[in-house]
Amino acid sequence: MKVGIVGAGAVGATAGFAMVMSGAASEVVLVDMNEKLAAAQAQDIAHAVPFARAAQVRQGGYAALAGAGVVVLAAGVAQRPGETRLQLLERNAAVFGAIIPAVLAAAPDAILLVATNPLDVMTQIATRISGLPPSRVIGSGTILDTARFRALLADRLGVTPKSVHAHVVGEHGDSEVLLWSGATVACLPVDRGAERLKRPLTAEDRAAIDEGVRRAAYRIIDGKGHTAFGIAGGLSRIVAAIAGDERAVLTCSILNDEVLGVPDVALSLPRVIGAGGVLETVMPDLSEEEAAALKRSAEILKEAVTSVEK
Ligand code: 2OP
Repeated sequence: MKVGIVGAGAVGATAGFAMVMSGAASEVVLVDMNEKLAAAQAQDIAHAVPFARAAQVRQGGYAALAGAGVVVLAAGVAQRPGETRLQLLERNAAVFGAIIPAVLAAAPDAILLVATNPLDVMTQIATRISGLPPSRVIGSGTILDTARFRALLADRLGVTPKSVHAHVVGEHGDSEVLLWSGATVACLPVDRGAERLKRPLTAEDRAAIDEGVRRAAYRIIDGKGHTAFGIAGGLSRIVAAIAGDERAVLTCSILNDEVLGVPDVALSLPRVIGAGGVLETVMPDLSEEEAAALKRSAEILKEAVTSVEK
């Protein structure tokens, strides 16, 4: 599948690299206002193609997006150390107003894949600007937080992350909700699985994992200025699910009609992803505490989007 990436900074370029190395994309076009940067990133990625499956990688203008099945929106200003994702909002909303009409003029049939923060609000703004159905405007959302949750749990349990099933829903940000009640390992609820693995989970372990997932981006940004590899892996995974019409269940953000009584809000829930984009949403069973936290997350996002769309 041909994939366009608008924004050739760390996230966009690393996502292109990940898609080439994993074989998710057969053609990658990088578009950036800074054409020299996009050309350099494209060339650098192209030099990895001999180590991957055959793929074409190049820089281009918006017209070069024609025929793309997915266009990743990774443009925007980056989160500064200590800055929350929601504080980025005003700055990045203006960027999308300029980019999305140009993308759709060239690639009217593309699925838009939003990677710009604050992720959920940008997904909602992209849905409105594009006029596309929510199923075709997908935010990477908590696919990354879910990956962090699985990785930290797996590390604590001494198994591979692929053997841990646990989801993060809600905002890709501070109010996200780790669904401990549905987490499983080796077909067992996570607490029982942990005991059988002789690594029982204490309240302190849970708190440390929660904090580790929720604060991961802050720590990484503090150390290196941005995050890129994790999100690139997640974007590549979503593209592979679309390209292969996989019907994979991934936690991604789209505009929902309603979440726990909060209308018209974009946030992440488990979604079935295939060729048409989001094919289904699967509302998980939630404990009382998780339901209250998800509702709160929806309200926070609703407030943020209302403030920018006024
Ligand atoms: C992340 O969570 C900053 O949203 C980015 O890595």
